[in-house]
Amino acid sequence: MAFLAGGQQKGMINPMDIPAFTLSRQIDEIGPQTEAAVNEVISSGQFILGAQVQEFERRMAAFTQAGHAVGVANGSDALYLALRAAGVGPGDEVLTTPFTFFATAGSILRTGAKPVFTDIDLDTFNMDPDQASARISPRTRAMLPVHLFGLMADIDALRSHYSGLVVEDAAQAVGATLRGRAAGSVGDLAAFSFFPTKNLGAFGDAGMVTTVRPEWDETLRALRAHGSRQKYRHDMLGINSRLDALQAAVLNVKLPYLGGWTEKRQHVAQRYQAGFAERNVEQVQVPVTPQGFTHVFHQYTVRAQNRDELQAYLKSRGIGSTVYYPLSLHLQPALQDLGYRAGDFPHSEQAQREVLSLPMFPELTDREVDRVVEEVAAFYQAGH
Ligand SMILES: Cc1ncc(COP(=O)(O)O)c(C=O)c1O
Repeated sequence: MAFLAGGQQKGMINPMDIPAFTLSRQIDEIGPQTEAAVNEVISSGQFILGAQVQEFERRMAAFTQAGHAVGVANGSDALYLALRAAGVGPGDEVLTTPFTFFATAGSILRTGAKPVFTDIDLDTFNMDPDQASARISPRTRAMLPVHLFGLMADIDALRSHYSGLVVEDAAQAVGATLRGRAAGSVGDLAAFSFFPTKNLGAFGDAGMVTTVRPEWDETLRALRAHGSRQKYRHDMLGINSRLDALQAAVLNVKLPYLGGWTEKRQHVAQRYQAGFAERNVEQVQVPVTPQGFTHVFHQYTVRAQNRDELQAYLKSRGIGSTVYYPLSLHLQPALQDLGYRAGDFPHSEQAQREVLSLPMFPELTDREVDRVVEEVAAFYQAGH
């Protein structure tokens, strides 16, 4: 488990403990199959691109309904390469959310463009379309909404204000849908991450760009190979960012399980919601799934009163939890040159104070979910 960020497993040795996330139960389920697939790649000697990568690209082009899928090294490169394929660069502005992982804004800056933040809707944690419309300028070259925690941003509403390019940050939303359309096919381009903790996770870094625009498929393939379409001829400045064949083999084994795993996550979410409602835990606001959306619950993120004390209490009871994200991007030291200040995005700043992601993974048992609910209820009953 050493590859997992955050080290949720460390120190959790009591069998009654409930980690925020663990892969060990999934590995019990599919370990032998993934080992066999990895061994096959080793025997084939085809480590860079090749059949496993092509197969995964083909299946993801269909799964996301986008029609085109290009495997890259990680989700951050996927965002950068999607923006580059569409021609985003210096002098451009890209509208995005301050309440996300750093890579969203980091990849905009890597293209030479400027991230322009717009506040979130506190119910969904995603870009608020009405506020976004007020931040569109003549320099706005693209919108980069994030489908945070597994719920898609309302791209239809965003598009009603903006007719330009939309790139989805779908890193947390593989399998999610918006009015019947899958994440990855609603924008012009989309970026996926297969970081090990994602709903579809590799055994290392991996990522993908999907696009509904056939002309960008070929550009993306060149950009991920130093801008080369023909060996040792470079038509543009690209990077080395290919999906590793060993990771593609693991992902090909896992993809058929994703639907079942997603249903289990949705079951866990329902049980949390019913449990909090039954116990009248009013201090906790559970995630909202608006009509027309399917939520894939990459995280089960509540807004909680006395969040830090609640997290410490849960930890003392052997229950893991995580704060995604404790500092909005407009307040990050690395992004101070953008000129934002505390107070600029009140919803994002409120979210960073209140959010808590409770244990969420497909193999969580009903008893474990019930125990988390009971402990949260006990914390507030004790007068917090
Ligand atoms: C919203 C979001 N965007 C981008 C990324 C970057 O993906 P990666 O870690 O694969 O580079 C992540 C995941 O870490 C993410 O959660």
